[in-house]
Amino acid sequence: MAKIIGCITTSHVPAIGRAIAKGLQEEPYWKPFFDGFKPVHRWLAETDPDVAVVVYNDHGLNFFLDKMPTFAVGAAPEYPSMDEGWNIPTVLPFRGDPPLSWHVINSLVGEDFDITMCQEMVVDHAVCNPMALLWPGGGDWPVRIVPVEINTVQHPLPSATRCFKLGEAIGRAIGSYEEDLRVVVIGTGGLSHQLDGERAGFINTAFDREFMASLTRDPTWVTKFSAVELVEQAGTQGVELLMWLTARATLTSVREIAVGYHVPISNTAAGMMLLEPAA
Ligand code: DHB
Ligand code: FE
Repeated sequence: MAKIIGCITTSHVPAIGRAIAKGLQEEPYWKPFFDGFKPVHRWLAETDPDVAVVVYNDHGLNFFLDKMPTFAVGAAPEYPSMDEGWNIPTVLPFRGDPPLSWHVINSLVGEDFDITMCQEMVVDHAVCNPMALLWPGGGDWPVRIVPVEINTVQHPLPSATRCFKLGEAIGRAIGSYEEDLRVVVIGTGGLSHQLDGERAGFINTAFDREFMASLTRDPTWVTKFSAVELVEQAGTQGVELLMWLTARATLTSVREIAVGYHVPISNTAAGMMLLEPAA
């Protein structure tokens, strides 16, 4: 049977892609951020996952305001990397795992989640940057991916409660897949940031820290906030923390293996967590 061996959550700021392309990892601005991923590299080398289920939010590349699914799952054999306007070099395409994707889609629809099924899908910085952070070097990707996309662009957004339930259902879907696969679940986005409007540049360190602590201690803590309250607490783009919540909810109880929090990277409080199943 397939097994979730861990959950990794990270910010996906476009500037990370440019820093990688220019080889700035040792520059003073970037070094503390990139160094935070060294324990994750060791963990990935030891655990050697086959597949990454990547929970992310598209930024107007694959979906636009004219048609905006709340939840979408990729079922493509390949996911090309594209840049929706940040001037980030693209990366090698990602290999998909259509049989696992269809199992997840069937299982989610079977549990009454309305899923947009994507047999063609391009992925933006929210997939490409975290993947390049986790598997540096620019060679062929060592894992296949199943992208799970959640709307954070156009209101109404799904609630934290709904995202938590989606994550739980994804966990059950992976756990009921017959092939012996080692699966890592990745959640990308956040933490607090706001790119536009009067509060542009807004960061809420106290909220971020409480949210990160809650993921091990009490993962439903953040479900007491509505989507609009999350915008107030974490910023218009800080609602991307819903990706972390969904990814975390695929596991029941967890222990923390590595954690990082660095402010700011670009306009964002850049967080990272590596969690393993507790039992
Ligand atoms: C930034 C952060 C994001 O999450 C994003 O999608 C785009 C830009 C930033 O901080 O610059
Ligand atoms: Fe983003």
